[in-house]
Amino acid sequence: MRNLIDILDLSVEEIDELIKVAKSIMKSPLDYSKVCNHKKLATLFFEPSTRTRLSFESAMIELGGSVIGFSSANSSSTAKGESVADTVRTVGCYSDIIAMRHPKDGAALVASEKSPIPIINAGDGGHHHPTQTLTDLLTISAEKERLDNLTIGMCGDLKFGRTVHSLIAAMSRYKNNKFILISPEGLKIPEYIKKDILEKNNIEYIETADIEEYMDKLDIIYMTRVQRERFDSEDEYNKVKDCYVLKNKTLEKSKKDLCIMHPLPRVNEISVEVDEDPRAAYFRQVKYGKYIRMALIMKLLEEKDTIINKTKTNEEIVSDLKCKNPRCITSIEQELPNIYVYTNKVYRCKYCETINELLT
Ligand code: NCD
Repeated sequence: MRNLIDILDLSVEEIDELIKVAKSIMKSPLDYSKVCNHKKLATLFFEPSTRTRLSFESAMIELGGSVIGFSSANSSSTAKGESVADTVRTVGCYSDIIAMRHPKDGAALVASEKSPIPIINAGDGGHHHPTQTLTDLLTISAEKERLDNLTIGMCGDLKFGRTVHSLIAAMSRYKNNKFILISPEGLKIPEYIKKDILEKNNIEYIETADIEEYMDKLDIIYMTRVQRERFDSEDEYNKVKDCYVLKNKTLEKSKKDLCIMHPLPRVNEISVEVDEDPRAAYFRQVKYGKYIRMALIMKLLEEKDTIINKTKTNEEIVSDLKCKNPRCITSIEQELPNIYVYTNKVYRCKYCETINELLT
């Protein structure tokens, strides 16, 4: 079964092809208006969403298909204690493809292991958000006319911001991209992104807490919201909630062709005065999201019978090692096996990728 759980499930060539198809849909949408006739998309949103859910739904409708689903965990059988696996097995009897958002890291992977139809990860906790990344890549390709040789500033909540994690993974595969990672101390990028993506691929990156320090060097500034819902306490959130606000003044030294992005929703990370700046691309970014999701739905439905074996040779069940990440799907679904990927002498949870130590 072909799923999209992590942006790295797609090769660079496949991403380039999706971007090409999305651009062709933008030019002649009517040519695609019957492609998904008699097909159904199910949107299973266990967590709030405006753009992602509605763009999936309008994408399917514009392809001639139809949509079923729910937009909160409370209105599904999850409220009665049903597991993710049982929910997707059930929905798989009514539809052809699922877009799913869940508050726990790794939930989409669990779903894909049991689903009879393709699963698209529409955000799993603070972990990944591959379709936002496809949206971001189409935006960059349309606005900057390239995906390589870019200096990209990522600013705000780099710890819990799933869109940041997926975008770094994607942009690291194009030539000569550099990252300026701007965050307060407590919201720095997770170790696994630094080690497994940036350092492993020799990608240049700088960590700083100062948004203005490298502003004149940036081709893209990607602002993010502090992810209030992922904090352990309101006090912790209050300490960092207003860490950055992008204003016209902050942009004084920036390049004339800077591209200002944000996955949205914004709380106050970008002052509304910036909206008038022609370089503000965040509402155009929303529009690109629908077209790339149309291209993705078409691709996954076409390739739904492709067999992909994602089991890694170094996967191990360590029955007495419980993942320490409180936001991991294994923390609420007790019957899931404790599976780890063992590399470089560490056990990494298969579902959320957190590094766990084995007590000896
Ligand atoms: C993002 C998300 O849900 O991770 N929003 C989106 O999908 N466009 C960003 C956020 O919620 O801050």
